[in-house]
Amino acid sequence: MRIPNDPFLGTHYIGKEELKAVTKIMKSKSLFRYHGPDMQYVTDKFEKEMAKYLGVKYVLALCNGAAALKLACIGNGIGPGDEVLMSPLTFIASASSVLSCGAIPKFINVDETLNINADEIEKNITKKTKAIMVVHIQGQACDMDKIMKIAKKHNLKVIEDAAQALGSKVKNKFSGTIGDCGAFSLQAGKTITCGEGGFLATNNKKIYETAKMYHDNGGFRVGPNYPTWENGKTIFGENFKMTELQSAIALEQLKKINTIIKKQEETYDYLISKIDLSFYNIRPTVKNHTPIYTSLILNFDDNNQCQRFIDYMAKKEIGFNRYNSHLIDEFDTFKYSQSWHESNFPYNILKFKKTNCDKTKAIFNRTVLFNLSASLEKKHLDYIVKAMMEFKNNESK
Ligand SMILES: Cc1ncc(COP(=O)(O)O)c(C=O)c1O
Repeated sequence: MRIPNDPFLGTHYIGKEELKAVTKIMKSKSLFRYHGPDMQYVTDKFEKEMAKYLGVKYVLALCNGAAALKLACIGNGIGPGDEVLMSPLTFIASASSVLSCGAIPKFINVDETLNINADEIEKNITKKTKAIMVVHIQGQACDMDKIMKIAKKHNLKVIEDAAQALGSKVKNKFSGTIGDCGAFSLQAGKTITCGEGGFLATNNKKIYETAKMYHDNGGFRVGPNYPTWENGKTIFGENFKMTELQSAIALEQLKKINTIIKKQEETYDYLISKIDLSFYNIRPTVKNHTPIYTSLILNFDDNNQCQRFIDYMAKKEIGFNRYNSHLIDEFDTFKYSQSWHESNFPYNILKFKKTNCDKTKAIFNRTVLFNLSASLEKKHLDYIVKAMMEFKNNESK
């Protein structure tokens, strides 16, 4: 049986509601968020609704999650010569956002949760350290209690890369709303989607206002719904705005978020209830955390068994795989300090120093992931459980 093997959650829920919303924008001929002949202001609405959902004061809609990360750095005043601590087990955009501000990432090991090991943060803080970027990988939050205490003690900013974790919670707060600000993605593989898109969430007015100016070519808009720039009052900025078409889709997807999360949880719970947990080690979570279930992650005792498992599942057409091809500190961007510019910006300001991430590599090498596509059905899950049972029996012989 061919098992669905895609990372799509919200994507599978795109339907007539999104189509109707997009059609309305098309008919209005007002696709730009600030001007148009018949403005619908859906980007404003999306920001308001998302802020309400997350329980934060400010949400800024953006063209993608990478832009949200860059603005998180900019809003927190991170710039040339600064260092930002993060784990190397993430998508490269987490680290590129830091480089794009002229700052340098410093990679810290993960623990068995696959998130940054909070116990390794303090010994890596130097005078240059400005922030900790926590990445809530695959819907599971980092140890925010410990991390917030360390940040407070050392006067560091906390940026949450919540691209993969929209809807997960620590105690009663959503991931991405605990630190100084959270960066979210609305790309096709995320909880909800509009193809490409993202947003920044924060309770800090200064972060929001700086990010808002920067994302709009550094302009400062005035008047109802901010149609025009106040002349001359600009900072250096770029264009990271979201279009009304993206926002129309995202707004409809947001209405479906609880349904999407619930279905993922049911899929995960079903698998967990059937798998032999005395043989399979499920990725552990931190205390007081309610994850969102984007994937099933297994930690094996050793790399060889992990590879045998991947090979066995591949024969059954079940796509268990490594989290990624590389840890990001192994990409040339960091391995050879690769820049597009002959000055070698930003490595000419602060050299990238490779830290020892052997522990992360060891965990990475014995970890597999299976995307819990929103299109998985009970027959698929039963087939996966059966194959996992067979593998266990073969290994136990
Ligand atoms: C952890 C992480 N950070 C950042 C991003 C960047 O988001 P986007 O693709 O929307 O730019 C992604 C997603 O693709 C991601 O998975």
